[in-house]
Parts: sequence; C-alpha cells; structure tokens
Amino acid sequence: MQGSRILLIVGGGIAAFKIPELIRMIRREGGSVVPVLTPAGGQFVTPLTLSALAEAPCHTELFDLTRESEMGHIQLSRAADLLVVAPATADLLARMAAGMADDLASTLLLATDKPVLAAPATNLRMWQHPATQRNVETLENDGIRLVGPDEGDMACGEYGPGRMAEPEAILAAIRAALGRDKPLRLPPEAAISLPSRRLAGRHVIVTSGPTHEPIDPVRYIANRSSGAQGAAVAAALRDLGARVSFVTGPAEVPPPAGVEVTAVQTAREMRAAVEAALPADAAVMAAAVADWHVANASSGKLKKDGSGRLPELQFAENPDILAWISQLAQGRPALVVGFAAETDAVLDNAAHKRRRKGCDWILANDVSPETGIMGGVENAVTLITGAGAESWPRLSKAEVAQRLAERIAEALSPARGQAEERA
Ligand code: C5P
Repeated sequence: MQGSRILLIVGGGIAAFKIPELIRMIRREGGSVVPVLTPAGGQFVTPLTLSALAEAPCHTELFDLTRESEMGHIQLSRAADLLVVAPATADLLARMAAGMADDLASTLLLATDKPVLAAPATNLRMWQHPATQRNVETLENDGIRLVGPDEGDMACGEYGPGRMAEPEAILAAIRAALGRDKPLRLPPEAAISLPSRRLAGRHVIVTSGPTHEPIDPVRYIANRSSGAQGAAVAAALRDLGARVSFVTGPAEVPPPAGVEVTAVQTAREMRAAVEAALPADAAVMAAAVADWHVANASSGKLKKDGSGRLPELQFAENPDILAWISQLAQGRPALVVGFAAETDAVLDNAAHKRRRKGCDWILANDVSPETGIMGGVENAVTLITGAGAESWPRLSKAEVAQRLAERIAEALSPARGQAEERA
C-alpha cells in the first residue's frame, strides 16, 4: 500500500465510528488518506477527527469557491488511486447506482476514473430490500467492488446482514483493489488504467504563486497571480509519482495534498527555499516572482506625518530564481522549465527569455487582460523548447499541467534520454 492514495468517503451510519481506526491502519501501511465526509456522516464523526488522523484536510462541501474554480472535485477524485466508501449507507448505494451528482460524495464518485470500493452498512431490512439489492447488482455490474456487509447484531437491535465489514476486512479489500489482483468488471472502453507512475523516484521542485515584497510591516507589493497553474503542475507531477517540493508564495489556491510545501513571502525567501530543496531532477518555475523588492522597507509602519511629504520607495532587484537555477554550475536539475507571461509578441519574447535565462523549456502564455487567463481557470500556452515552438489548444490549467507533467516524464525517462529532449 506504500504511497497509495485513498479518497475515503464517509457516509452517515453508526459504523462511521470505526473509520478513524481504518484511517490509522491505512496510514500504518504507508497509504495516505484524503477524507470526505457527507453531511449525514458528520452526525457520527467530525471532520476534525478525520483530518487530524489523516493529516489532510477533510472535504465536506461541493461548492467551495476556491477549489471549485479549479475544478476541485474532478481533481480530488482523480488524484486518488482508489476511492473507498465506508460506511456506504443504503442511501449512498442508491445514489451511486443512480449516478447522482448533487453533493460532494456523489459527484466525486461520478467524476472519478479510478476504482471504487464500497463497504455497505445498512439496517437488515434495508439491505434485503429489493431496491437495495437491485442497486448493489447495478454497482457490481459497473465494476464497483463491495466488501461486506457482515452478518451480526446491529445497532438497531436486529440481527442479520447489514453490519459494515470490520476495518481489517476493509483494509484487506483495499490492498486487493490496489493490487488489481483481478480485473474490475467494467466494459473494455471504460477499463480503468493503472495510474501511471512514470515519475516515481524523481524529485521535482515547483515554484508557484505571487510574492509579497514588504513596504513596511503591514503593506506589501504583490501581483495578481492566483497560484492556480503552479498548484495544478505540482498535483500533476505528484500524480505521476514524483516527489514534489512545492515552494509557494501567498497564493489564493491552496497547495495540493501530497506535496512537500514550503510557504514563503518574498522572492529572496523563495530562492532560499528552492536552494534548500535541491538536488532535483527537474524544476518548474511557475511563480510570478516580483522583479523588485523595496530596498528601504520600513521596520515600523509608515505614517502620514502631516507635512505632506510622501514616502520614497527605493527598489532593488530580486534574485531571478529561474535564471539562477538554470545556470547553476553544479547541481543544476536536468530539466528546468520556466513560464513566460507576456502581453505582446508572446512567442518572440518567450523564446528570447528561454535563451537569456538558460532554461530548457518555456511555457509561454498571453496574459493580456482580455484573455482572462490571469486568475482564470483556463490557459492557452505554447511550449518552447530547443527544438521549436508547439502551441497547445486552450485547456484547463489542470490539463496544461497534465500535459506538461507527461512531457517532463518523457524527457526524464532513460529511454529517450535527456540530451535528445533538451536539444
Ligand atoms: O522574467 P519573467 O518574470 O517574465 O520570467 C518568468 C519566469 O521566470 C517564470 O518561470 C518565473 O517563475 C521565473 N522567475 C523567477 N524569478 C524571478 C522572476 C521570474 O524564477 N525573479
């Protein structure tokens, strides 16, 4: 289970009290858990308990604006290796079988392209009801695996099938599902592909977000970068199995789960954090780093003194992290990728930037206000390598990130050789 990512959807049944133990067991075996709690599940166990044990945020809302602007639920459901629904109540089973998508749990289950394992937990009569049995059959035909239910005493005082399988049994079923010991019963065209781990064993540094350059203790100079593209790149690299050091300025978009986060404020701090994260196989500098910092930043808050005199800010240049890492004499990552946000002569400027900074690739994009790219969900980029320029269609930032991660995996794969790819 080492390194496997489990998205654990906790439904509303008394058996939810066993879920904290299940989380512990998964983690003990080296798996990671991202918990999702349904409103009914929240009656039995708290988000705080789940997130504390999982050491990951517990998701409860479908419409979380920040995440949703980044297609959060799609990413969430696909970043996992396996979705586990436990306890899977009769209601949840019915909603899964019907393909509902009106809350976070059902949407994740409908949006995923990963295998799903459900541990039913229902009252005996509810389990035996033809409707539930019909739903279970539908789910099994859809390729969803079930573990349990067990037979025994139930919290409602009855005896029979309907008890959630014990955590040990669920754990064994998770192991089996991750091992793909037998193919899931899906039509061939919907067959689940094994998550590609082409970057397993590789270390990639990603910078992201804006920087804040202080003027005084309460004011700073910033820019409009949301950190969306950098977070998506980090998530995509993680999904291919890379260890990701994610160095982020104060971004609006939260860092993805499963990456090593270093939060910084200024360009100088960002450079130091990148340096501390070396060595790396690749570096993707997606941060919108401020070019200058205020050299005469005040240690106390600047105040109007009544004289009408205005404060005079003096600027000093920030380190160019991309140029610095690209030109490292020793310990330069084999592949260095920069971004170029331009408003005019995009390709010329980006190609020139690639040479000037000494990086291998530049992803160029047009951030003129009319494109809506800065802070938006989509991106239209051109990949500039030593071999030429390649324009990609307008894609979501997540898709841009996935393409980039795939290209990085290709470039780092011994089969193709870095020299060839970097040429
Ligand atoms: O020079 P410009 O900011 O347009 O270059 C953009 C690229 O350089 C981005 O990849 C950005 O992350 C990186 N950069 C950097 N350090 C700076 C300025 C830009 O890493 N000080």
